[in-house]
Amino acid sequence: MLDSVRVRLTLWYSLVLGFVLVLLAVFTYFLYWRNIEQRTDTGLAELADAFVTTFHAELSDETGPDAVRNAARVAMVEHRFRDTVIAVLDPANNIQQSSLELPRLGPSRERITADLFSSKDFQSLVAEAAAHPSALGDVPGGRDGFRAFARRMPAADQNYTLVVLESLHPQREMMEDIRDTFLWAIPIALLLAGIGGYFLARKSLAPVAAMASQARRMGARNLHDRLEVANQRDELGQLAVSFNQLLERLEKSFELQRRFVADASHELRTPVAILRGETEVTLSKPDRPPAEYRETLAILRDESQRLAQIIEDLFTLTRADAGQYPLTSTELYLDELASDVLHRARSLAISKRITLSSAIDPELPLHADESLLRRMLLNLLDNAIKYTPECGTVSLQCQKQGQQYVVSVTDTGPGIPADMQQRIFERFFRADKTRSRADGDTGGAGLGLSIARWIAEAHQGRLELTHSDSRGSTFTAFLPVGPSVR
Ligand SMILES: Nc1ncnc2c1ncn2[C@@H]1O[C@H](COP(=O)(O)OP(=O)(O)OP(=O)(O)O)[C@@H](O)[C@H]1O
Ligand SMILES: [Mg+2]
Repeated sequence: MLDSVRVRLTLWYSLVLGFVLVLLAVFTYFLYWRNIEQRTDTGLAELADAFVTTFHAELSDETGPDAVRNAARVAMVEHRFRDTVIAVLDPANNIQQSSLELPRLGPSRERITADLFSSKDFQSLVAEAAAHPSALGDVPGGRDGFRAFARRMPAADQNYTLVVLESLHPQREMMEDIRDTFLWAIPIALLLAGIGGYFLARKSLAPVAAMASQARRMGARNLHDRLEVANQRDELGQLAVSFNQLLERLEKSFELQRRFVADASHELRTPVAILRGETEVTLSKPDRPPAEYRETLAILRDESQRLAQIIEDLFTLTRADAGQYPLTSTELYLDELASDVLHRARSLAISKRITLSSAIDPELPLHADESLLRRMLLNLLDNAIKYTPECGTVSLQCQKQGQQYVVSVTDTGPGIPADMQQRIFERFFRADKTRSRADGDTGGAGLGLSIARWIAEAHQGRLELTHSDSRGSTFTAFLPVGPSVR
């Protein structure tokens, strides 16, 4: 259950809310209690003052030995109220008159007896009032004790003491009520907040659950499915958008991979079919003249060479994609390497009566992978010769321009149609598949330029088709002069 974010959120929320509510309740309780205490104290002092005023007024009208007692009684009748006791003590601290002697004032739950005046606290309060003009304190008695205020009250040339007491029972009762209210209100508030929080969390997290179930249904077959985005601006909407973008990228690379495998098997199928066909035809007759066998073997050799080349290219590209192609860089001279490659391409050119020319600057030192650079140049020259009609010209230029070497291969071939120029670097792309295939020999797999471009990029450079029209094409590789191998 705790594994659910909804439940955890609700628990945390309820815990924090509970903590805050309890804190608030405790704070309110004590604040209220202090407030009541202060109000009681000032109320007692005010009552005492009012009593004294009435007492003196009555005393001025009274005569005789019981004048003080009578005046006190009248003032008590006027000022006492329920759960309040007023006592007037003579100079010897004996009770002269107390409101307990008067008839009871309506029903009260408080039980008050004269024991109230005999407690030690009462006595010491009276003594303190004698020393000071007034004193405040708690006195035991009744159900929950009394708050008492004592003050001196001079009358008839003697020092009387007035003590006003208020029962603490009603206040305690009220505080208990408040406490009880908190005790049931907080759990109910928590329960309601918890239920509300749970539903809120469930509602807020519903899109996540929906996303999870949609994502569960997704696989390689339906990568084109997308998550529903309820609100693009909120966090969950953004999550769904990011997830959809990830799916988009995955789908693209999946598609690329799928096409790569399909194209690769397609390319491999042709040479294999030729191998099988040739062998079957040759074996269909028991005896053939040696020349026919030689011819078949020559075809088998060419096709297996082509097969080996395609497999090698595919292997290179797969390792390049995985970033696992080991680059073994050495110090070399680009001019020497270019001349060497040109020399090797000569045999290809001669068979098509193509003129090979070059303009190679001397002394072009470079730190690079020699075999890969050779392969790049050979691919470019191979294309130039392959796609240039007989008696054309192919030239190789190599020079330093600023901080980079510029190596370009120019031919006088038919050029590449403008709408194809962007695509010739794609894997397995051939501008004119029918022509390539019909030519038999010249039909490559369409991997040469992809590999050449990867080689340039692996050396922190780039390979571009810098010019192409009906009079020919120029491919240019730009390689940085400084240390370039990753
Ligand atoms: N110099 C060029 N002149 C005209 N077209 C070219 C030239 N170089 C490349 N192309 C076009 O670009 C396509 C891709 O070239 P790329 O070298 O990648 O493949 P390929 O030569 O067909 O096969 P591979 O190089 O794998 O044997 C070629 O099929 C061709 O149509
Ligand atoms: Mg090629």
